[in-house]
Amino acid sequence: MTLKIALTKGRGEKQVVGLLKKLNIDVSPLENKQRKLIIPLADGQYEFILAKGPDVVTYLSNGIVDLGIVGSDILMEQNVSGYQLLDLNVGKCQFILASTTDFNPTSAGRKVIGTKYPRVAQEYFARLGQDVEIIKIEGSVELAPLVGLADAIIDITETGTTLRENNLQIYDWLAKISTRLVVNPLALKQKKNEIFQLVDQLAQVI
Ligand code: PRP
Repeated sequence: MTLKIALTKGRGEKQVVGLLKKLNIDVSPLENKQRKLIIPLADGQYEFILAKGPDVVTYLSNGIVDLGIVGSDILMEQNVSGYQLLDLNVGKCQFILASTTDFNPTSAGRKVIGTKYPRVAQEYFARLGQDVEIIKIEGSVELAPLVGLADAIIDITETGTTLRENNLQIYDWLAKISTRLVVNPLALKQKKNEIFQLVDQLAQVI
C-alpha cells in the first residue's frame, strides 16, 4: 500500500529529502518537483504532498495523508501532542524572545508581543505570570520591534543571521525545535507494517 506523506515546504525540506536519500529511496521526483504539489515516487511506495507547516497538520488530521513531516514549532502552536513517531533531528532551530537592545524584559507595564506563534507566546508569558498583548504577524516578525509595532517578539531563530543583521538581541530561549514524523492514528492501524518499516529505516540514519 502506498504511504501518503505530507512534507513541509521550505525550511528543512532539503534536509528531509537528504534523509530519505540515505534510505536508498529514489527521491529525484522530489528534487525535481519544480512547482508540482503532489509527487509520487517511482516505485509506488510513497506519495508526497507539499504543504505549509500548519496545513500538514490539517491534511493529517483529516485523514488525507498517513504521515506528516513538520516542525515541532507548528506542533506546539497547534497543540498537537500525540502520535509523534520520530524526531528527525533536522530543521533545528529555537524559540526565542528577542527585541531591540533597549528592551527591558522585567519592566512593569503590559508588553506588546509580535509573533507568528500566539499560543506559544501566550503560554510563555503566562508561565512568567505576565499579561501581554499579542499581535499576530505572518512573516518577517523581526520588523515588529524595529518599527514600533511591538515591544518584543517570540519567534524562531536558526542561524541568528536575521536577528544580527537587524540589531536585535535575544532575551530568552524558550524551546528547541526540530522536524518530527507524525502519524495519523487510523493509518497506524491500516498501514502498520509500511509505517514501521519506514520508521525503522529512518531511525537507523538519523
Ligand atoms: C524564520 C524566522 C526568522 C528567520 C530566522 O522565518 O521567523 O525570520 O527564519 O532564521 P535565521 O536565524 O537563520 O536568520 P522564515 O524564513 O521561516 O520566514 P518568514 O520570515 O516569512 O516568517
